[in-house]
Amino acid sequence: MDCWKVKKLQAQNFRNLRKDVFEFSPGINCIFGQNGNGKTNLLEAVHLLTNKKSFRKNTSYSQMINIEGESPEMIIQSVFESGDEQVPYSLRMTDALEERYLKNTFEKTKTPSTSVFINPFDSYSFHTSSTFRRHWFDSHLSLIDKEFKQVLSRFHKAMRFRNSVLGMGGKNTSIQLRAIDEQVAEYSCLITQKRVQFLKELNEHITPTFKAIFSEEHRLELDLDSMFVQWDQQKIFDFYRHQEAIDVKAHITQIGIHRDDFIFSFDGLNAFEFCSLGQQKMAFLSLIFAYIELFRYKFTSYPIVLIDDVSGELDSQRWKNLIQYLETKSFQVLITTANENFGKELEKIPNSKKFLIEHGSLI
Ligand SMILES: Nc1ncnc2c1ncn2[C@@H]1O[C@H](COP(=O)(O)OP(=O)(O)OP(=O)(O)O)[C@@H](O)[C@H]1O
Ligand SMILES: [Mg+2]
Repeated sequence: MDCWKVKKLQAQNFRNLRKDVFEFSPGINCIFGQNGNGKTNLLEAVHLLTNKKSFRKNTSYSQMINIEGESPEMIIQSVFESGDEQVPYSLRMTDALEERYLKNTFEKTKTPSTSVFINPFDSYSFHTSSTFRRHWFDSHLSLIDKEFKQVLSRFHKAMRFRNSVLGMGGKNTSIQLRAIDEQVAEYSCLITQKRVQFLKELNEHITPTFKAIFSEEHRLELDLDSMFVQWDQQKIFDFYRHQEAIDVKAHITQIGIHRDDFIFSFDGLNAFEFCSLGQQKMAFLSLIFAYIELFRYKFTSYPIVLIDDVSGELDSQRWKNLIQYLETKSFQVLITTANENFGKELEKIPNSKKFLIEHGSLI
C-alpha cells in the first residue's frame, strides 16, 4: 500500500511557529501545549501542504504569514515517507504567488498525501446547521471525486448567474433562464446521483465504525433530503421551467441542490433532535472515520488524520475507546490537546511520539 506520511516539517514565517524541525512518527503523534501556543497552527501547516488550503474558513495569506516576521515570504518544507522511499515537498508563498515543489521540481497540482481534519467545533455545527452539513459532505466528496468537485463548481457558477439574471429582471429573462437551466439541470442531476452514491458508501461503513470505536451497537444512517433524487435531467429541467414565475417574483432560485440537506439518524431518530452532545460527537467522529475507511477503499491508502482537541463532551471511557481505535489503525495521526486529563491518556500510548509546543517552539 502506497501510504505517504509526513516525516519532517519545518515552517518559516508561518503563523507563530518557529523554525523548529518536527520529526513525526508514522503512527500516532501527540501534540501538547497550553492554549494559544501553536498546536492547531502545526496541524494547519500539514493541511496546507497536503490539501492546498487551510482548514480555517476564509483564511488568506496575510493571516497566515507571521505578523512579526521580517521576510515577506512564508515557507513550509517537509519530507514525506512511504516505506523506504522519501520525497521532499515544499511550499513557498508570498502575497503574489504560491509555489510548490515535489522532489525539488515545480508541481502545480499533485501533493504527496491528503489529510482529513477533525475539529472540536465541527460536531456541533454539523448537527445544527444544514449549510455546514452540505458543505461538509460536498468538500469531503470533492476530496475523493475530482469530477464531482468540477461539476459542483460549475453548478455554483451557473446558479450565481441564474440569480443575477433573476435579480436584474428585464425582458430577456425567460430566454436567458432557459439556457442556464439546461446547465443547472445537467449539473443538478449528476451532483444528486453522486451525493446519493457517496451516502450509500458511507452507510456501509458508519455503523461498523461506531461499533469499532465505542463498542456499542447503534444503527447510524445518512440520507439525502432532496426532491431531485431519482429525477433525470429532463425532469429537473422541466421543474425549473415550471418554477420560473415563482423565482422571477422572488428574484432568487428558491429550490435546488444548493439547498438540499443531509439527514443523520441514530437508531432511526434524528441525531440532532434525540442525541446528547456526547452521542452527537460520537456519531460525528464515526462519520469521519467511516469516511477515512472509504478513502482507503478508493485509493488503497489512508489520508493523514489531523485531530484537534476532540476531548470535549466525551467521557474518559470514550477517550480511551477512541485512543484504542487509533492504535489499531495504520494511518498517521497528529492529535493535539490542551486538556491535562486527556493528555494523560495520550501520554500512555506506547510507540507514540510526543511533542510539546510553547510559544510556537518545540520544547
Ligand atoms: N499570522 C500570525 N502570526 C503570528 N502569530 C499568529 C498568527 N496567526 C495566529 N497566531 C498566533 O497563534 C496562536 C494560536 O495558535 P493555535 O491556534 O495553534 O493555538 P493552540 O495551541 O491550538 O491553542 P488552543 O489549545 O487554544 O487551541 C495565537 O497566539 C495567535 O496569536
Ligand atoms: Mg488549537
